Parts: sequence; structure tokens; C-alpha cells
Amino acid sequence: MINVRKAAVIGCGFVGASIAFSLMQKGIFSELVLIDANREKAEGEAMDLSHGLPYTASMRIYAGDYDDVADCAMVIVTAGANQKPGETRLDLIGKNVAILKSIIPQLTSRNFKGILMIVSNPVDVLTYAAWRLSGLPAHRVIGSGTVLDTARLKYLLSQELGVDSRNVHAAIIGEHGDSELAVWSSANISTVDLEQFCALRGIQDQAALRDKIYHEVRDSAYEIIQRKGATYYGIAMAVSRIAECVMKDEHAMLPVSVLLEGQYGLDGLCLSVPSIVGENGVETVLEIPLDEKEHQALLASAKQLKEVIATLDL
Ligand code: NAD
Ligand code: LAC
Repeated sequence: MINVRKAAVIGCGFVGASIAFSLMQKGIFSELVLIDANREKAEGEAMDLSHGLPYTASMRIYAGDYDDVADCAMVIVTAGANQKPGETRLDLIGKNVAILKSIIPQLTSRNFKGILMIVSNPVDVLTYAAWRLSGLPAHRVIGSGTVLDTARLKYLLSQELGVDSRNVHAAIIGEHGDSELAVWSSANISTVDLEQFCALRGIQDQAALRDKIYHEVRDSAYEIIQRKGATYYGIAMAVSRIAECVMKDEHAMLPVSVLLEGQYGLDGLCLSVPSIVGENGVETVLEIPLDEKEHQALLASAKQLKEVIATLDL
């Protein structure tokens, strides 16, 4: 039996602990299990987080083990190495696939029936590996994908355009990484076409603005890691938003990483495209309109990911 109010976070470093902190404030779970290879780290985080509970929702947060995962509605995997300055996400593949290979059997042997969310990098490759290793239906294996990058895009555009970031409707798709792309062709500010909105704001060189923002989004993690060693608050908000969509069965549209099965002419890999997310995980992978340049960029991103997937021993 699934306990719809229970989740687990596996890996309690910067990212896992921040996700736990964000989740406890959303109030969508009443039980949160923290698991880490370093048990004391999980215990310390559980203690620290629990001391905030009198000021937020009523729930239990505790350090646990894999037996606690069996009835979870959602398991969020953040275990693994993060990038050091100068490393790409794809450079983490060897270490983090090995870690994933040690975690997934712990879930399958307990007949885990919930939604599996992968956050560790390279997230698209690990989402694909998690789907293959777990044998779970693809719609129950979600990567956080470009939900974070899309938030970065919305935020940076909002700053340039002087408008609330929640009014910005635009997406980053493809790899959560260096080959990602922005879907400018359908970007809008609460129904006003981006081009028209830029004109309203007196922006002369729109192509230069788009180029600058795309590069800032794509390189955000490098810039943050250079300054503070890791990224964790943005991804924590992105993951707790995905969790909320699932647990509240919102049917919300999010660019999560998911197995493609023919959409956009692609299959045999996971990457991010806008999808409808609800209680079953990814309910529909949408084929949104792309212009020719965007479609080619998506194919190039997929090609890069497929080359990495081909090297995996699953
Ligand atoms: P971190 O080093 O702070 O934490 C990693 C944690 O994983 C550690 O506590 C470690 O003990 C634990 N761990 C290692 N092996 C484990 C195992 N087999 N079982 C359980 N726990 C294990 O790293 P971090 O900064 O928290 O980053 C974690 C991962 O998240 C990295 O791969 C990073 O690249 C990724 N990340 C992804 C996104 C995204 O958008 N998808 C954003 C930020 C970070
Ligand atoms: C990010 C991580 C490092 O912040 O993937 O984009």
C-alpha cells in the first residue's frame, strides 16, 4: 500500500537537504524519510529540519533506511557527486551511475510503487538509467530536467522586461546541460507575444537580448559553482514544485525529463520537453510547436545524450 503522504529523499547533501527544507514548507507530505550513505549526515539534517516544524506544517522528518521507502508515494534521488569548478554535468557520469546502480535495487527489491524522481546529474542520463534499471513504467520515472533552467529563464527575462517572473511563459528544453535550448518561438508574457512585449518595453536589439539570456541561463550553474561551490536553492524549489504537481494531481505543464517514445522523432533517451504532470507522474509528453532552428537544436541535444547513453553498461 502506498502512503500518499510519505516521501523519501536519498542523498542528503546540499541538494537533498534543501529539497527537504522546501518540501516541509509546502506541507504536501506528513512523513519525510532522509537516507544518506553517511547516516550521521541524514540524522543531523533530520534533527535540524525538525526543529523548524513548530513554525510550519505538522509532519515527521527522520533519518531512515530502505525499508522505510517501500510505501513512499515519492522517492527523490539526489545522491552522488556534484560538479567541481570546470567540470560539466556529463563528467559526473561514471561516479553517479555507479551510485544509482547501488540505490535502484534497494527500491525494486521492496516493490516500490510510487513516483521516482531523479535529480542527481547528469540528470537526463541518470533518469534513463533509473528507468532501465528499475523496470518501472516510464511515466513513473521523472527527471527534474529543465524545470530549474526554465525558472532561470523566467527570472532573467522578468528582470530585463520589468515584469513578474510568474507572468513569463517560456521554456528551456533538451538536456539539462550545455546543449539545452530556449523555445523562443512561443515565448509570451501573459499572452502578449515576447517580441511585442519587448517592443512595448522599447528593446531595440531583441536577438542580442535573447542570446545574452540564453547564455546566462545555460551557464548559471557554472557561475554559481564558481562562487559558492554548489547550487541548491533553485533546484530545491523546482523539485518541490514537481512534487506538488504530482501529489496534488495538478495536470500542470512542466519541462521534466522523461523517456521519449517517438515524440519529436526521438526515442531511447530521456530529456526535457513540456509534459503534463499529475498523480501518475508524467501523464502526457506534449509535442509543442517548434520552429526549424529549435527542432534542429533539440535533435542535436538528443544526439549528444544518446552518445553518452550508448556508453552505459546497464
Ligand atoms: P553533496 O556532495 O553535497 O551531496 C551528495 C550526498 O550524496 C552526500 O551527502 C553523500 O553522502 C550522498 N551519497 C553518496 N553516495 C550515496 C549513496 N550510495 N546512497 C545515499 N547517499 C549517497 O552534493 P549536492 O550538491 O547535494 O549534489 C547532489 C547531486 O545533485 C549532484 O549530482 C549534483 O550535480 C546534482 N544537482 C542536480 C541539479 C539539477 O538541476 N538536476 C541541481 C543541483 C545539483
Ligand atoms: C544546476 C545543477 C548543477 O544548478 O545541475 O543547474
